[in-house]
Amino acid sequence: MQTDSHTYNQPDPATEARVEALLAQMTLPEKIGQLVQLNPFGPFDPDEYDRQKAEAAANGRPFTYIPPLRHDMEALLRAGRVGSFLNVMLPGVINHCQRIAVEESRLGIPLIAGGDVIHGFRTIFPIPLAESCTWNPPLLERAARVAAEEASASGIDWIFAPMIDVARDLRWGRIAEGAGEDPFVGMAMARARVRGFQAADLSSGRRIAACPKHYVGYGAAEAGRDYNTADFSERTLRDVYLPPFKAAFDAGAGSVMSAFNEISGIPATANPLLLRAILRDEWQWPGVVLSDYEAVHELIAHGLAADLKDAARLSILAGLDMEMVSEGYATHLADLVAAGDVPLALVDEAARRVLRLKFRLGLFAQPYTDETLAETIILRPDFRTLALEVAQESMVLLKNEDDILPLAPPTRLAVIGPLADSHADMLGCWSLHTHPEDVETVLDGLAAYLPADAWRYTPGCPIRASEPTDIAAAVTAVQDADVILLVVGESADMSGEGHSRTHLGLPGRQQELADALAATGKPIVCVLMNGRPLVIPRLAAQVKALLVGWHGGIRAGRAVADILFGAVNPSGKLTASWPRAEGQIPLYYAHKNTGRPAAAAGVKQFAEYFKSVYLDEPNSPLFPFGFGLSYTRFAYSDLRLDPPTITPEETLVVTATLRNVGSRAGAEVVQLYVRDLVGSVTRPVKELKGFQKVTLQPGERRAIRFELPAQALGFTGREMRTVVEPGAFRLWVGPDCRGGLEGSFTVEEAHRRG
Ligand code: NOJ
Repeated sequence: MQTDSHTYNQPDPATEARVEALLAQMTLPEKIGQLVQLNPFGPFDPDEYDRQKAEAAANGRPFTYIPPLRHDMEALLRAGRVGSFLNVMLPGVINHCQRIAVEESRLGIPLIAGGDVIHGFRTIFPIPLAESCTWNPPLLERAARVAAEEASASGIDWIFAPMIDVARDLRWGRIAEGAGEDPFVGMAMARARVRGFQAADLSSGRRIAACPKHYVGYGAAEAGRDYNTADFSERTLRDVYLPPFKAAFDAGAGSVMSAFNEISGIPATANPLLLRAILRDEWQWPGVVLSDYEAVHELIAHGLAADLKDAARLSILAGLDMEMVSEGYATHLADLVAAGDVPLALVDEAARRVLRLKFRLGLFAQPYTDETLAETIILRPDFRTLALEVAQESMVLLKNEDDILPLAPPTRLAVIGPLADSHADMLGCWSLHTHPEDVETVLDGLAAYLPADAWRYTPGCPIRASEPTDIAAAVTAVQDADVILLVVGESADMSGEGHSRTHLGLPGRQQELADALAATGKPIVCVLMNGRPLVIPRLAAQVKALLVGWHGGIRAGRAVADILFGAVNPSGKLTASWPRAEGQIPLYYAHKNTGRPAAAAGVKQFAEYFKSVYLDEPNSPLFPFGFGLSYTRFAYSDLRLDPPTITPEETLVVTATLRNVGSRAGAEVVQLYVRDLVGSVTRPVKELKGFQKVTLQPGERRAIRFELPAQALGFTGREMRTVVEPGAFRLWVGPDCRGGLEGSFTVEEAHRRG
């Protein structure tokens, strides 16, 4: 069920009148002040740190270091030279700064407090890539709402999320933060998260604005190296990278964060095509564009701007409203206006947008946060229950030979691997409020199912190669076990911003550990706790079962145990392909056919040099997009496409029957794909156009119905406009991107109809 959610994009005459009245009173420096977002803290002060620590100890309070404000912060606030700050997350400090802005500045304009709340605030959910594997937007809407509840109670008005960069390169550490490789999944998750963040009736009585990011194409960083150049066509921009942003705006997102990267030679932060032509002229979107951290200053390093003044000029001319941290606007915008290099109207336009957002957030009416509220809100039992539900649904079962799972107690388990007992790594990247003590590890989860004498734990090796290893001890430990439970993967700091990797197998000596365990001949059930898809063909072949648990948040360990012992039937499906080898990257299901496509399955590729294939690996992934196993089995039948021919204005109705033919209740993610066989520009071999998550009891059958408007088949044609072209289409309804039931339909111009 959808909750009520605020939109910041509908015109509101009353707000506009207030914005104009306020703007009319503002000096140029005050207008520029609204475009400045700062980190209010000064540098780390060791003496102050010691003092606060001693004070906390003396009072028996938990210690949180609060750095002193930067020396000029209060003066800047009083002068109206700051519009926003980021990542403070301490209601006392936020209120202190807010009080100066509201009560001591000339016009009393409140600050807007932004923060990174990427997969929960204190109740940490699985990383967003994992969340997307739930294929359950209403569930993610509820999770985003929980994040908003906790963040809002802690003084945050503006959440720098959802991260909706389509990512097709696993080397890129930030693939963890998004919804994977597909724009359609990205759109669904973007809508859900925006709605959840911007939910009405938060307990704080305040509001939150979402800030989708990073606009745009950041996921296309060459070679998966963070911040690297992206270079792709305007068609790819429009068909792959923009749709999740458009979906987020349509769901009511009133701000966006510009990306660090350049696209085809022009950094996103000073890119008029992106910020002005598309956002304003085409989409008529009225929201605030915020730069990423110092991205204005980085225009110098990019080689686009000669100095910070030039960077500020290029950014405001391109359409950037607010600058995060680097102070090019604060230092140079007034001079640029005075010299006639920047029209005053552009500053007015940007200030107007920021003020509009502040009014619509209700900040003028309620600028302060109740400092006692957070304590009663964070980690509420219902939030923890939801974190468990999301973790359970996010986990993906990739292999289950001989139905070794679920485990039937009593089973003597040897638990091996460094991730089984890790608290901190379950929190994944981007959990700014790291409270590892909140986490239930896999060992904690097991303890809920097995008596203490039914299992023992031996780490075997650490995650990183540099630490001491005792693989021999692990081999000894498994001797009298029935089953080995191997829990391996990545540490939290191996993904996320600035954490790209080139070797995507198990880090450190974990594969060596798996080799030694496999040599014992004991059956291995492997749980991966990871921040990205990994390249693990050897491991996958060695183990009987493979469950991807991800960096699953505070309830990760319990969710793993629930699945291992069958209390929960896994239902997650991959939202990014898992390659056989790093050399296949980028690997995604919606690729083009090429003039020399690889032949159908069964053809010996080694003899087929002059096709678009590799000499040493098949083209296909190890585990495809959309794939995930269940403890039950589903059967698809009765595909019908009605009518078989539609005009571009009509809707195709697709029906099929889904049956649970296994012996357990379970949920299946039914997926609908199409292929446009001939186009005026070439089209992908498959594109996801619909999905539904359906829960069925054993033996139950359900009629599945999709409505596919012909407009959803649109793409960017030769003239760079969206077109729906007449012609023949193929369609599949099935369990993953490889197929399922197959049918065809035709799109025909209306005038051809008799
Ligand atoms: C840089 C990151 O790219 C962005 O995602 C984040 O919101 C900002 N820093 C603020 O922390």
